[in-house]
Amino acid sequence: MAEVVAQTDRRTEGIVIKDDWPGYSLDLFNYPAHYCGDLDCVIIPHGVIMDRTERLARNIMDDLGDHDIVVLCVLKGGYQFCADLVERIKALSRNSSHTIPMRVHFIRLRSYLNDQSTKDLHILGAEDLSFLAGKNVLIIEGIVGTGKTMETLLKHVQAFRPKMIKVAGLLVKRVQHSLACVPDYVGFEIPDRFVVGYALDYNEYFRDLNHICVISESGKKKYKV
Ligand code: HPA
Ligand code: MG
Repeated sequence: MAEVVAQTDRRTEGIVIKDDWPGYSLDLFNYPAHYCGDLDCVIIPHGVIMDRTERLARNIMDDLGDHDIVVLCVLKGGYQFCADLVERIKALSRNSSHTIPMRVHFIRLRSYLNDQSTKDLHILGAEDLSFLAGKNVLIIEGIVGTGKTMETLLKHVQAFRPKMIKVAGLLVKRVQHSLACVPDYVGFEIPDRFVVGYALDYNEYFRDLNHICVISESGKKKYKV
């Protein structure tokens, strides 16, 4: 009989996408026709995102499954990942005696204009997080670029004295400087390129794209503000 090997939790960089990975041709997938010419390639197809998310949900359940958790969904870029991750945590919770009561709260961060991070970080919906006191908090973020945004947010959340804070990031960029904050749960480590889709935007465009794609130079020009 095959031996069943327990899959242990450990902090990893997730699925590593190398700098020389050319991505998949857009011709191999369906995507909205209004983005024709605006994208270079599909870097992570939607199905792969879903499969990785399923595994992250299990890792989170293994670590946090004994406690109530408060999910902090970081809008707008994290909404799709948050919805899919929470859905999978719920499915695991339904199908086992290992169950987590979960609350979901939304906060909004804004720091990007075009493809550049700006100095001003606005946190909305986070003025009074006193309900986090003594709770296990899971922050869910779509992408961690420099890690500075997450570092600022973590400081803000820590001030409300939660029992524990864990961060799940679907994407982490491989940037030159070491990250100010590395998530506990990482979906994918990606090259330092501007990506869109699966709720990640460029000036509010491309959230309605299922796959994670690299934006083209002409796409950047077309939607520049
Ligand atoms: N795409 C969208 N939003 C972002 C990115 C990115 O590559 N990096 C930081 N925020
Ligand atoms: Mg954005």
